[in-house]
Amino acid sequence: MYNYPISEAARSTLAREIFGHVIDGQVVPSLDGRTMDIVDPARGESVARAALGGEADVDRAVASSRKAFDDGTWRLLDPQDKERRLRRMSQLLLERRDEVAELDVIDAGLLRWYVDFTVDFAANGIDYYSGWPTKINGSIPPAPPNFSVRQERIPIGVIGLITPWNGPISVFGSVAAALATGNSVILKPAEQTPMTAVLMAEIAFEAGIPPGAFNVLQGPGSSVGAALVAHRGVDAISFTGSVPTGSAIQAAASKRVKRVSLELGGKSAFIVFPDADIEAAAAASQMAVWGTSGQVCTAGSRVLVHSSIKDQFLAAVLKGTEGMNIGSGFDPSTQLGPVVSSEQLERVSSYVQIGRDEGATVASGGSRLDIPGYFHEPTVFTGVTNDMRIAQEEIFGPVMAILEFEDEAEAVQIANDTDYGLAAGVWTSDLDTSQRVSAALHAGTVWINSYQMVYPSVSYGGVKLSGHGRNLGAASIDELTQIKSVWTKTGDAR
Ligand code: NAI
Ligand code: MG
Repeated sequence: MYNYPISEAARSTLAREIFGHVIDGQVVPSLDGRTMDIVDPARGESVARAALGGEADVDRAVASSRKAFDDGTWRLLDPQDKERRLRRMSQLLLERRDEVAELDVIDAGLLRWYVDFTVDFAANGIDYYSGWPTKINGSIPPAPPNFSVRQERIPIGVIGLITPWNGPISVFGSVAAALATGNSVILKPAEQTPMTAVLMAEIAFEAGIPPGAFNVLQGPGSSVGAALVAHRGVDAISFTGSVPTGSAIQAAASKRVKRVSLELGGKSAFIVFPDADIEAAAAASQMAVWGTSGQVCTAGSRVLVHSSIKDQFLAAVLKGTEGMNIGSGFDPSTQLGPVVSSEQLERVSSYVQIGRDEGATVASGGSRLDIPGYFHEPTVFTGVTNDMRIAQEEIFGPVMAILEFEDEAEAVQIANDTDYGLAAGVWTSDLDTSQRVSAALHAGTVWINSYQMVYPSVSYGGVKLSGHGRNLGAASIDELTQIKSVWTKTGDAR
């Protein structure tokens, strides 16, 4: 029995025997019956079970997706009808929003208000992509006399969508993008957060997406994820996660020269110039690192502050950080939730030790909490230099590293001195500074006097080790389609 005050719908969903794979419109267990625990990170306890897939399950899902694609039940549907069904998907998601949100709080340990944001983000993404099917145009290039050529924009085929734990329902927008372009999709959610993937598929079928056009496979990345990447029947992979896994996926996908799109996190610089609104910057910097307990790819985890304002900035951060309420995402007074797993807590804790060993100063926090669940104090390091591992490596936990700079050139130099390039923040009241610095930063996104804004029409993705390929916006339509040139001999039309 679950103790939080959750909706009846969430309670009954949570009581399901298994969160299975979804293949051909059916929620099914693994063929060999294996299962895995679904753990609530706020309590460190198992709350339900998910299917743990094997190669035979992957074969089954891929065969179903292949068939759906080749039969054209979805791909060849009237584009207006596709749009209507996709739009219905967001309506149904919003009708079940409490159930979906509550399950993600339990599964991922996220805060309740944040999950509301991710549900809206998903619904907005679905709405945006639901407008595309009637607007994906081909083109007619110049051609030699007596020929006419049309370039059609066609789907790629079966897309494997491999996703992380930090915003399980957010990926519904990416599912919609892949469907809007006529592809079939197989979603492999993170093994830490299997629950709402099943609900996404149920919502999709209710909205009229044909069975097989959207399948779900549950299980670890090293087996199920890797089998999906290697499978002959999967045409492209869209992945969000860590650099080592992204790199392994790109290498494995090269064997069948598959397209891959990789969103691999970052160590984003959050730069505060002396003329910035310091209180606003300090508040945003905290949201950028404490939000989702630091488990977000755009975490502004390297905070670069001009030396003349460092004391003022630090005081503002400490004021917000000291005494933060830490606890379950269901408690409305909670400001910081758990990290997703005991492995992740170990990882965060080991980085805090690395920071101490490297000679950085713990200005606040520094310890895990000695309570059930996977909680770590919000931790602020000062005296950080950019060569330290806590300044270079993605921690994915509530750890802020504060670095100092003396002038604009040094700020840009430090900001760019990283293998990552996902995002950056620039805080200044001077327009010229903001434009010069944003032009100089090597990052896929720059936010000026704001942070972590996202919108369905705005593309999102990284440079350098943060990956390649773009999510959101019209850029995804290009990524999810390819061009087919059809030549017709016309005879002499003069
Ligand atoms: P991960 O990159 O290994 O896992 C992400 C997804 O990839 C999961 O669905 C997983 O099952 C799958 N996967 C793992 N190995 C695979 C393989 N060989 N082939 C195909 N799929 C595979 O990340 P992990 O181990 O969960 O987290 C470790 C660190 O990675 C985090 O501390 C964080 O620094 C980073 N990370 C970054 C994310 C981001 O949003 N950019 C998301 C998740 C993790
Ligand atoms: Mg979980």
